[in-house]
Amino acid sequence: MRPLGYWVLAVAVLYALCAATVCFAKKTFPWDSGPATIDVSKYPQQMKDTYTKLFSVKCKQCHTLARPINSTYVLQTEWDAYTKKMVRKPGAKISEAERRLIVGFLSYDAKVRKKALYDKKAAAAAGGA
Ligand code: HEC
Repeated sequence: MRPLGYWVLAVAVLYALCAATVCFAKKTFPWDSGPATIDVSKYPQQMKDTYTKLFSVKCKQCHTLARPINSTYVLQTEWDAYTKKMVRKPGAKISEAERRLIVGFLSYDAKVRKKALYDKKAAAAAGGA
């Protein structure tokens, strides 16, 4: 085979590998397979409203709710940064006001459901570690 032939072959193999694995596959996360609902029955009314009217509607447009619900993001700063990335995704219909309410809900919820992780990360953030 001529040198060019090898190049063509190499590129074809790489392309096939790429297509079969990471490059074109939709990203998934381990938390996608966890629970996809939150029991908000004991949450304050405003949190209940944000859960039902915003979070459950807006954050389900592209992936299941299990993804944010079981995520290891807990701090308000983490949710603030990450939801900014989400609203920039093509087709995300989430206003800035809606995004802020969702961030409030997610960080409140983390303090309730993921308290140990929240406290650990909050202490690390405060101590600069
Ligand atoms: C327009 C589509 C879209 C919308 C709307 C959307 N997401 Fe996502 N989300 C994605 C994609 C795509 C990924 C995969 C990661 C990537 O490609 O950046 C993702 C990944 C995630 C992850 C996994 C990151 C991690 O490391 O845990 C979380 C959490 C998340 N989204 C939360 C949210 C929340 C909260 C909302 C609602 C405010 C939301 N998403 C709305 C498209 C979207």
